[in-house]
Amino acid sequence: MPHYAVKKIGIIERYQEYLPVTDRTPIISLNEGNTPLILAEALPVELGLKNIRIYYKFEGLNPTGSFKDRGMTLAISKAVEAGSKAVMCASTGNTSASAAAYACRCGLKCFVLIPEGKIAKGKLLQAYRYGAKVIMVEGNFDEALEIVKEMTQDGKITLVNSINPFRIEGQKTGAFEIVDDLGDAPEYHAIPVGNAGNITAYWKGYKEYKKAGKSEKLPKMLGFQAAGSAPIVLGKRVEKPETLATAIRIGNPASWQGATAARDESGGLIDSVTDEEITRAYRFIAEREGVFAEPASAAGVAGVIKLAQKNFFKEGTRIVITLTGSGLKDPDFALSFEDPIFKVKSTVKAVKEVIE
Ligand code: F0G
Repeated sequence: MPHYAVKKIGIIERYQEYLPVTDRTPIISLNEGNTPLILAEALPVELGLKNIRIYYKFEGLNPTGSFKDRGMTLAISKAVEAGSKAVMCASTGNTSASAAAYACRCGLKCFVLIPEGKIAKGKLLQAYRYGAKVIMVEGNFDEALEIVKEMTQDGKITLVNSINPFRIEGQKTGAFEIVDDLGDAPEYHAIPVGNAGNITAYWKGYKEYKKAGKSEKLPKMLGFQAAGSAPIVLGKRVEKPETLATAIRIGNPASWQGATAARDESGGLIDSVTDEEITRAYRFIAEREGVFAEPASAAGVAGVIKLAQKNFFKEGTRIVITLTGSGLKDPDFALSFEDPIFKVKSTVKAVKEVIE
């Protein structure tokens, strides 16, 4: 049988010098990262933006379909290095899918706590298929995270939520890739905010890359929460967060400070978008751009639309929007739009009738 060399390179190998790894760190990888930066074509036209470029950083193309893989490859590698035998997380779905995948790859036990009934089907089935023990909590994400924090305190089980600093370290590589692709940082970076780890990670990445001489400037960070789950915008914890973007249905973000620091240091903002705005943005990028991301990811797009309509963006700027997860994660939402069903006899004539 011919042997083909397989190029195995994930974010740890690619960005080793910027990450807390040594030669003794085992690399548990699924070749995550290196996701495309897709130029938006329909959106700037729709918004009447001239001489402004918008890019989608499409994280839905990671191995488990979300940006979580960047942080998880490092968190799991470091857990193995430390001799851990089991990991645990609370999750609105994507973290659990990613933790389960990387844990099974190296034989670690994986326990995931999810809010009952509020997790997209694609994410739930991933956690099961990757062999995690899935525990549904009769409560929301914030409550589940409190339980996980307590249960991992003695160090027997490793916590792999983004309060694990290795998660943030891995996720900052998203910013590195953008600078590598564009040759510099964009003027604006828009991103959905849930537990607030990712906005914290991107800001860290941009700052570190600038310090290393890889970019000349820093972007203004634009974070967007769902209106029913917008604690940072409101300046207070939300006890009963609600939004159809279940991934960001979070009322007490763990990295709250990191998010406000990213906002303030960069001169950006954190705003909210309604479920209607999220839905419109979700459909627009799928139906007009051919880019299928999950509802939470569309919060970043909805935010850019909202700001553009207020003439927020100046000419000659570049905006990057992180699309955090794949649209395939949430099939129930994707099929909730009463799309017409054409059921016909199996003949050319019958098919012709419906396409005319
Ligand atoms: N987009 C998606 C698709 C997510 O899954 C998440 C978070 C976010 C955005 C927000 O990122 O929490 O770093 O601010 N999902 C976590 C989870 C909470 O459990 O999968 P964040």
